[in-house]
Amino acid sequence: MSTTDIYRVFAERETRGVSPAYERLSRVVAGDPELLALLDTLPPAKRQPNLLFGVVRLRGGPVDDPAAFRAYVMGHWPDVAAQMRVRATQTNEAGRCAALLPVLAALPQPLALLEVGASAGLCLYPDRYAYRYGDRRIGDGEPLLDCDLTGAEPPERRPEVVWRAGLDLNPLDVTDPADVAWLEALIWPEHRHRRDRLRAAAAVAAADPPLLVRGDLVDDLPALAAQAPPGATLVVFHSSVLYQVPQPRRDAFTALVRTLPGHWIANEDPSVLPHADLPDPPTDGFHNVLALDGRPVAWTTGHGQSLTWFRGGRRAGGR
Ligand SMILES: C[S@@+](CC[C@H](N)C(=O)[O-])C[C@H]1O[C@@H](n2cnc3c(N)ncnc32)[C@H](O)[C@@H]1O
Repeated sequence: MSTTDIYRVFAERETRGVSPAYERLSRVVAGDPELLALLDTLPPAKRQPNLLFGVVRLRGGPVDDPAAFRAYVMGHWPDVAAQMRVRATQTNEAGRCAALLPVLAALPQPLALLEVGASAGLCLYPDRYAYRYGDRRIGDGEPLLDCDLTGAEPPERRPEVVWRAGLDLNPLDVTDPADVAWLEALIWPEHRHRRDRLRAAAAVAAADPPLLVRGDLVDDLPALAAQAPPGATLVVFHSSVLYQVPQPRRDAFTALVRTLPGHWIANEDPSVLPHADLPDPPTDGFHNVLALDGRPVAWTTGHGQSLTWFRGGRRAGGR
């Protein structure tokens, strides 16, 4: 896709109705030959809207006014470009645990969780967060993750987790203020509730930091999986990761993960991890597919706000 198309699609598919500020900026960038020419000096993987907008926010630049944004990027391009080259979009959204919970809770307990593409590891604490699925509340405290669940009953309890580990090319540290500042800059401007959620989830993780290993989801997965304790169900999972992984490596990963013991949960864009016989998504806009052991079971929205079950019986996760 050309850079102008990337920004146009981002405006239409991802930000429309979700982030008016980023929708405006994306449309401005998509139609601005000078900005596009600057972006095209970067490697293709570094031209993404979320990376550009996150860097501008991290450096204190404006994102509310497109003219001021444009002037900032043009005037600070060497710094913006240098930051875009060394950083990656690593949005870590604890809210996605609400989409994972019904499947996790239905697996044989206790669990040994291994997340690939874990970022700072905030999705490794599904047993510590509180949830609200309609009238059903599970757990106490903060963060409270709200999820609109249809097509299945919510779980009755949280899973029991006896081991948690994450693998990431660039693990972030929730106890490092610079890493938390980058995670905050990656949250879209209007999403104050997500910034609150990030801080609450980071406090949970910082109180008992997970084992986070710097490594690749293919090359380093077997060695980390081998560290899982016997007697627990190994669950390898990932959420919004494979779009960052080249196709041959995605194929290598999906072949590898099927050889591991335990279970595999994917929460990914169906255009990067396709499934046969998917029903239509419940609404327009961006959706991931939740799949257990390669079998699609539900549509989810990007930050775990909704989970639309289409397979598996009354109890979510039933097989
Ligand atoms: C968009 S973030 C998602 C983080 C987390 N899964 C969540 O749902 O909040 C994607 C993460 O995948 C990591 N990643 C990308 N390619 C990877 C690879 N080949 N091996 C391990 N991690 C990778 C990135 O560094 C980044 O932290």
